[in-house]
Amino acid sequence: MDPRFEPLFTPWKIGNVEIKNRIVMLPMEGTNMIQWEAKTGYVKGIDRFYADRKDNNVGLFIPGLIPLISIIGKKWVYKHPEVFDKVKPVINDIHSSGGKVFFQISAGSGRSMLLPPILRPFVKKGFLKTVSSPFIMTKWWWSAPDPDEPNVWDPSVSMDHFTEKMIEKFIYAFGQTALRCKEAGVDGVEIHAVHEGYLLDQFAMRYTNHRGDAYGGSLENRLRFACDIVREIKKVCGEDFPVSLRYSVRSMTRGFNQGAVPGEEFTEVGRTMEESEQAIKLLEEAGYDMFNCDNGTYDAWFWAHPPVYAPLNMNLSYVEHIKKFTTKPVVCAGRMQPDAAADSIAAGRIDAMGVGRQLLCDPEYVTKIREGRLEDIRPCIACHGACLPFNGLNSKGTDIDPMHVEMGRCVLNPWTNNETRYSKAPAKHKKRIAVIGGGVGGMETAIQASLRGHEVDLYEKTGRLGGVFNAAAAMSFKEKDKELLKWYRAELEKSGARVHMDTEIDDISKLNADVIVIATGAHAKKLRIPGAERAVTAEDYLDGKAEVGERVVIIGGGLTGCEIAYELALQGKRPSIVEMTGHLVGARGICMANSSMLRELLRFHSVPSYLDSTCEAITDEGVVINAPDGKKTVPADSVILSVGYAPDERFNGLKEDKKLKNKVRFVGDCDKVGSLKTVIRQAYELVQEISYRQ
Ligand SMILES: Cc1cc2nc3c(=O)[nH]c(=O)nc-3n(C[C@H](O)[C@H](O)[C@H](O)COP(=O)(O)O)c2cc1C
Repeated sequence: MDPRFEPLFTPWKIGNVEIKNRIVMLPMEGTNMIQWEAKTGYVKGIDRFYADRKDNNVGLFIPGLIPLISIIGKKWVYKHPEVFDKVKPVINDIHSSGGKVFFQISAGSGRSMLLPPILRPFVKKGFLKTVSSPFIMTKWWWSAPDPDEPNVWDPSVSMDHFTEKMIEKFIYAFGQTALRCKEAGVDGVEIHAVHEGYLLDQFAMRYTNHRGDAYGGSLENRLRFACDIVREIKKVCGEDFPVSLRYSVRSMTRGFNQGAVPGEEFTEVGRTMEESEQAIKLLEEAGYDMFNCDNGTYDAWFWAHPPVYAPLNMNLSYVEHIKKFTTKPVVCAGRMQPDAAADSIAAGRIDAMGVGRQLLCDPEYVTKIREGRLEDIRPCIACHGACLPFNGLNSKGTDIDPMHVEMGRCVLNPWTNNETRYSKAPAKHKKRIAVIGGGVGGMETAIQASLRGHEVDLYEKTGRLGGVFNAAAAMSFKEKDKELLKWYRAELEKSGARVHMDTEIDDISKLNADVIVIATGAHAKKLRIPGAERAVTAEDYLDGKAEVGERVVIIGGGLTGCEIAYELALQGKRPSIVEMTGHLVGARGICMANSSMLRELLRFHSVPSYLDSTCEAITDEGVVINAPDGKKTVPADSVILSVGYAPDERFNGLKEDKKLKNKVRFVGDCDKVGSLKTVIRQAYELVQEISYRQ
C-alpha cells in the first residue's frame, strides 16, 4: 500500500456497521439496481457494472436512487418486493468481496422535476395539475412544498401542492421501502435528500417553503418531514439499522436559477452555514447515523455536480466545518482527490471520501490509489458529457433536451454501463490496422485495437500527440484534461501499437494494412469579414502560437469562446464576447451544471457579452457588430475567433470509392465535427466492429 494514502484504508463505522475503508461510491443514476423505467423494475445487467468494481476496494457502495413511487403509473416500490429479490445476488457478491451496500431512497424532485417537453403544454394548461392522471405522471412527482414555486427547468410552469396527507403517505412508504431494503440484505439506507434542492430540501429551505402548517416556518418545522422519515424507518427496521442522509451543507444560492461562485460574497436565500449548524444537530437527534455531504441546489447546481471550472475538493472546507456540529460520520463529495481526503481523514476533519464520476471513468480507481499507481488512473475531466448531459439550451439554463439524455455512462470510458453491449474479448480475426492521426480519436482507436490483439501502426504528422485536444487542455483550470493527455500517451505506449511521429501520410496505397483508419481531425473555421486577418484562432491562442493584448474580443460565445473569456479574466485581462445567437454556451450535450457555472463565472468577472449580434468587420479600434440595439464597435486590441471547426477533408475522395468501403474508415472530427464523446465513442465502436463483426 502507498503510505501516502494509508488513512483512506482504515475501517470506520456507520452505526454498528463496519466499513472496511474510507471510500464511498456516491449514488449516481445509471448505477441503480432498482429502477422503474426498467421493465423488470430492477436493472438487468447491473451485475456487470458492479462486477468491475466490487473487487476494486470500494468500502461502501451507494447505488443510484430508488424513487418511493414510480413516475408513471403510481406504483409504490415497497409493494414490489420481487424487484428487491432480483438484486440479492449482486448485493451478496459485493458482501463476499468485503464491501457494504446502502440503498438510497428518494422522496423525489418537487420543483426540480425535469419534465419532458412533450408534457409541458399540458402542465401549462393546468391539465396535469388538476387531473394528475396516474397514467400520465404521478401527481407526487409533480408537487412541491409551495405550489407557486417555479419549476427549475421551465419557470413558467408551476407545481402542484404537496399536501400533509401526501407527507403522511410518504413517511409510511419510506419505512416500508427501507424494510424491503433490509430484507434484501442491504446494510443501510440513505435518504434522498436534504440536498441539492430536491423535495426534502425544498421543505428545509426558507426560499422554497412558505407553508403555514407544521412543515413550514421555523427550522424545526421545515425539517420535520426529513426527521419523521428517519424516526419511521427506525421504528420499522430497528434502531440499529443505519440511516444516512444526503445533505447539502450550504445552498450557495442567490435566487431562482442563480448560483454563487466560489469566493463570491452574496446573500444566501437557502441554507446558510449558521442554519446548517443547527440543522445537522436536529437531524442527528432525529436519528440519522451519517451525513453524505456537499453543497448546492438546482439553482446552484454546479456545487453538487462540480464541472471542470470547479476547484478540486470544492466542498471540503464546508464539510469539515459542519463535522464540528455532529457526532456522526460525514462523507465529503465533489471532485475529491485522494491526497486531500487522506489528510482530512487523518486529521479527523471528515470520515470518508465520496467518489462519483471518477468511478464511472475508471473502475479500478481505488485499487490504483492503494497501490500508488496514480499515473495509471484514467482521470475524470468533470465534463458530464455522458453521465449527466442535461442540456441547458439558453442562458437561463431553463430548456432541456431529455430525449437525448443518457445517464451514468462516461465520455472517456464507453465500456461503463455498456458492459452487455460491448466485448473485451480478443478479436476474432486479427488484422493489420493503420491509423492516420494521433489526436484523441486516433489514440483511442490504436489503444482499443491493440488491446483486442490487432497489429497497429499509428502515424502522426507532427511531433506531438493529442491533436486539437492540446489546445482544449491548455487553459489553467484544465489540470485533469492535461492529465488525460498524459494518460493517453502512456496507454498508447503500453499498448504495443507502433507510433510513427513526424510522419505525414498522403497516399494510403503505400500502407501495408487491412484496415486504414483516418482520424485527422478538424481545423479552425475562419470568418469572411473585412479585417478578419487581424484575428487569431482560438486554437492558435490556446496553443501559445499567438499572443493577445489587454482588451480582447472573442467572436463566438460557444463553449470554447466562453472558456477563453474566463481564462483571460483570470489573467486580469478585459475580455468581451460577441455571439450571434441569444445564448452563451448553447450547444446541445453540455450539462447545465457546466454551462451555468461558466455563465455565472463570466457574470462574476463582469465579462460583457453581446448576444444576437453579428460581426461586420474588424478594424484598428475593435470589432464592428450589428447588435439588436444597432451598429457599434466593441473596442479591442486583440480579437480571437472561436467560431467552430471544419472537418479535415484531405482524404474525403476515398469516401467515394466503394471498393474501399470496409478498408478505409473515418473516425472523429474528420468525419463529422463533434465532441470528445462522439470522437471516443466512434473510435471505440469502430474497433468493436472490426474485431467482432468484420
Ligand atoms: C450521473 C449522475 C447521477 C447522479 N445521481 C445521483 C443520485 O441518484 N443521488 C444523489 O444523491 N446524487 C446523485 N449524483 C451526485 C453524485 O452522487 C456526486 O455527489 C457528484 O457526482 C459529485 O461527486 P464526484 O465529483 O465525485 O462525481 C449524481 C451524479 C451524477 C454524475
